Amino acid sequence: MTDPQIVLTERVQQALARAFGAEHADADPLIRPSQFADFQANVAMSLAKRLRRAPREVAEAIKAELSDFPGQVEVSGPGFLNITLGNSWIESEARRMLDDARLGVGTAMPPQTVVIDYSAPNAAKEMHVGHLRTTIVGDSLARLHEHLGNKVIRQNHLGDWGTPFGMLIEHLLDIGEEAAVAQLEAGQGTEFYQAARAKFDSDETFKTRARTRVSTLQSGDPDTLRLWHVFMEATVRFFNKVYELLGVTLTDADIAGESMYNPMLQKTCDDLEASGTALISEGALCVFPPGFTGSDDKPLPLIIRKSDGGYGYATTDMAAIRYRVHDLKADRILYVVGADQALHFRMVYAAARMAGWLPDTVSAEHVQIGMMLGKDGRRFKTRSGESVKLMDLLNEAIDRAAAAIADRGYDQATQKEIAHAVGMGAVKYADLSVSHDSEYVFDFDRMLAFTGNTAPYLQYAQARIRSIFRRGNVDPATATGPIVLGEAAERALALQLLGFGGVVEQTALTCEPHRLCAFIYATATAFTDFFEQCPVLKEGVDPDTRASRLALCALTLRVLETGLDLLGVPVPERM
Ligand code: ARG
Repeated sequence: MTDPQIVLTERVQQALARAFGAEHADADPLIRPSQFADFQANVAMSLAKRLRRAPREVAEAIKAELSDFPGQVEVSGPGFLNITLGNSWIESEARRMLDDARLGVGTAMPPQTVVIDYSAPNAAKEMHVGHLRTTIVGDSLARLHEHLGNKVIRQNHLGDWGTPFGMLIEHLLDIGEEAAVAQLEAGQGTEFYQAARAKFDSDETFKTRARTRVSTLQSGDPDTLRLWHVFMEATVRFFNKVYELLGVTLTDADIAGESMYNPMLQKTCDDLEASGTALISEGALCVFPPGFTGSDDKPLPLIIRKSDGGYGYATTDMAAIRYRVHDLKADRILYVVGADQALHFRMVYAAARMAGWLPDTVSAEHVQIGMMLGKDGRRFKTRSGESVKLMDLLNEAIDRAAAAIADRGYDQATQKEIAHAVGMGAVKYADLSVSHDSEYVFDFDRMLAFTGNTAPYLQYAQARIRSIFRRGNVDPATATGPIVLGEAAERALALQLLGFGGVVEQTALTCEPHRLCAFIYATATAFTDFFEQCPVLKEGVDPDTRASRLALCALTLRVLETGLDLLGVPVPERM
């Protein structure tokens, strides 16, 4: 492990144990970046209170135990430990990282089975921008966990079942299968739904047909099921177009829609009732998890079966959580879903714990996705107030990216490739770089800017490093140093790079891709400083310095490439 913050944590913990006894070996040394040194450890202050000793004295005692530390340790102020790493340590760790195919990223020990529920658009409506964010954030989490060696099971919990399918199937019959399929494949699910809905609301015979169709569907009538398949397959073909354009790793094998749980729902209810977890209240089967109350202070029910006998969203989620724990053997279940569903998931988890379906050894986490807003600060809509079509949005991003690079003299094929990488990268990175639970404003101009914390800036940074190697006619794989840190900008870059492993692990642990984004951005910035101050290929640079700087370039390139790839942001060769 090369990450200085982690190395320092371990070192200071050892010092704490030696100075004050083994019971302090697990104390958090509170290592933070510092203005006055590379890092500071703030542990002396909190420890002093517990030991009833003067903080400076505690700090001195820790320092004494760090005498073999490869750097400088100083006590300052009320009892901070200011820590400056030695150049030779940074050099050799950077060198080690260069030799390491994993760039200092550890592997999960033991590997966990991580079930990730993400994307999950509803087939009865069009996949809209709200699902864009859960798709992008979820996909990055899947990549991160996989990279750490965890077993990732993607679950695309499609909304592919329920009462709307009665009218959708009847409408499909009305317009003919072929026309319906063409429309759905083209991403006009909303229009399809609206047309069906309009007939349902105005035409009594259609309404009756739709209702009858729901029951034939639910009773498993083969002809109806075939029509449902026709509808779903066309819809999924459209979803796949979106996934492909975005470079999202979801495949048909990951589809585990609501319909999959249909055969389990009755047993789900029966088992919950038999175990006493659920009880009948006002005709409905409900779980009342402790601690949930409504506005009237009455216990809030999670409704498992409605009073008319129908199953709902919660029924399916109870079946799904049992399946994920019992059949998929999940250690960790991540629900990457809109923040507005927070209460639903808290109640589902609580109910599943009550039922014994979610043991304490398994964690269920709602990775809350904040709403996407327009520049006016309201829910993202078109100017005429309709919801924005996902395909239009993605294509516009690509068109705008193409316009931004139009004057760079690429042939058409290359230009198209770069525009795609930049356009999709921009949309994805904008989603990832703000914390997933905060609302965020969708703004083409900002996300496509070539400066600031944006995909184009980072993509450009890595493309520029590639061009250094092209110009110098050097294969980055052969740029192995040795690394010798002379200039301050070289040292700052190397120190920054060493943090990669820790940040990747933290990002996966916390499910917060914006942490990795911030790190990659800081790395690109450190590289920009380095590149401005430290000539690499220029005539007059001596061979050792050139070799060292090329090695730093190579390491930066790999960190940027790997980091962007873990986010799912494409890395174009040139830009
Ligand atoms: N289809 C749902 C929606 O669009 C999201 C499903 C999330 N997953 C789940 N297990 N409930 O709101």
